[in-house]
Amino acid sequence: MASPLPTFETPRLTLRPRTMAELEDCLAMDRDPEVTRHIDGPWADPEAHRRFVADRITRTYPDGMGYWTVRTKSPEERFLGWVLLIPADAVGPEIEIGWRLVRAAWGLGYATEAAAPILAHARETLRVAAIADIDADNAGSIRVAEKIGLRRIGPVGTSRYIRYSG
Ligand SMILES: CC(C)(COP(=O)(O)OP(=O)(O)OC[C@H]1O[C@@H](n2cnc3c(N)ncnc32)[C@H](O)[C@@H]1OP(=O)(O)O)[C@@H](O)C(=O)NCCC(=O)NCCS
Repeated sequence: MASPLPTFETPRLTLRPRTMAELEDCLAMDRDPEVTRHIDGPWADPEAHRRFVADRITRTYPDGMGYWTVRTKSPEERFLGWVLLIPADAVGPEIEIGWRLVRAAWGLGYATEAAAPILAHARETLRVAAIADIDADNAGSIRVAEKIGLRRIGPVGTSRYIRYSG
């Protein structure tokens, strides 16, 4: 039986394990084409999209890994998105770190603030290095990777993704 995920607090945010209560918020976020612009997934097929997100919420990940919902702090507790730390594409063997926020939350430093404690958790508690494969055109996400201290490794094969690691 997997242990529960830890929760984290930053100056402006809380990060708690993502639950099925957040399924609709997650689906609505992904339906914004700007949000999924640089990410492959079943976004165009509503049934497949719902199955995919529900499966990612309910499946069991290795201890200390999973998805954290990012919210503004109490009393507002506004849903902003999530950060993940999971076996890459839910398969591995690499461990992937990732971030996704609703568009209204972009440009305020939230992704960096949310991803930093998850990377510290990977490094200091789990003692694993994390990778992030980021579309070369996804300048905001590349900047987040740099700001939290991931290193650019280089292109992933012949794809448009650049691997960051750390
Ligand atoms: C990527 C994402 C999480 C960034 O969230 P965010 O809260 O805006 O990120 P932050 O504010 O912490 O940092 C973004 C940085 O990128 C910069 N940036 C954003 N868009 C940029 C652009 N088009 N060109 C250059 N820099 C850009 C910002 O200026 C900021 O850098 P700075 O602090 O040095 O000024 C958000 O845009 C998102 O959810 N995108 C859709 C999902 C996605 O692509 N996820 C990543 C998949 S790999």
